[in-house]
Amino acid sequence: MKITVVGAGNVGATAALRIAEKQLAKEVVLIDIVEGVPQGKALDMYESGPVGLFDTSILGSNDYKDSANSDIILITAGLARKPGMTREDLLNKNAAIIREVTTQVMKYSENPIIIMVSNPLDVMTYVAHAASGLSKERVIGMAGVLDTARFRSFIAEALNVSMQDINAFVLGGHGDSMVPVVKYTNVAGIPLTELLAQDKIDAIVERTRNGGIEIVNHLKTGSAFYAPAASAVEMIEAIVKDRKRILPCTTCLEGQFGIDNVFVGVPVKLGKNGVEQILEINLDASELKALRDSAAIVEENCKAIAASIA
Ligand code: LAC
Repeated sequence: MKITVVGAGNVGATAALRIAEKQLAKEVVLIDIVEGVPQGKALDMYESGPVGLFDTSILGSNDYKDSANSDIILITAGLARKPGMTREDLLNKNAAIIREVTTQVMKYSENPIIIMVSNPLDVMTYVAHAASGLSKERVIGMAGVLDTARFRSFIAEALNVSMQDINAFVLGGHGDSMVPVVKYTNVAGIPLTELLAQDKIDAIVERTRNGGIEIVNHLKTGSAFYAPAASAVEMIEAIVKDRKRILPCTTCLEGQFGIDNVFVGVPVKLGKNGVEQILEINLDASELKALRDSAAIVEENCKAIAASIA
């Protein structure tokens, strides 16, 4: 198993180290355009092997040739948000970067699975899919796992219970229009609504929607990376180990939920072939409307990008 991480910034570097520490690959390649940064970070990580107890080789490079024959490519390249910026503000700049990165990696790997992390997430997944020529099952966006992790952590905190026992789903686009689905949220099988008052649930839903900007406002110079990296690596693990995990991921819908040809977050089965199934769960009328509205925003941004490259 060879995994390439494009972008040696905070998300990429954190993800690369986590992949090595979990021994999900024999080889990890960290690629960035900035000279020296991927080399230095990769070497530093590699040297942590004897104390972290892994034998994964980690190579830092500025040359896409070093990504040759990757099984999985995690794309984290692009600009991150600063305070006052929405994810959509990154649209045009990151679309150009993602198109270029995808074209480069596809020169050297025949049929990889691409996991997208760059923002605006759903649109960048669309851009990578279009530029890669890969089947839609093999280009997947990481957002639902992150948004759900935030939702789960806030619920665990409110109830003072283990995070592990919180099952939840946040669907839709990775933006203000995301859809935390309270109906399917439970604590060790007990519906959340039996354990927490509605006003508290509403506050947690709101905090989850603003989870990204809450971190940006603290950091001021960038956006979140520990939870995003951990979420991407959870998806990678499901694929590497062919675990058939059910996780909310950004995938191309083809009529499911009444949404056609739009990349948006929904529950999927993740295994060695990428997205192996889309679970078209029952949603309340209001949740379904929220999901469709969210998809409409993504679709509009994808059209804007398509027009700008035409
Ligand atoms: C976040 C950014 C990275 O949600 O999208 O933290």
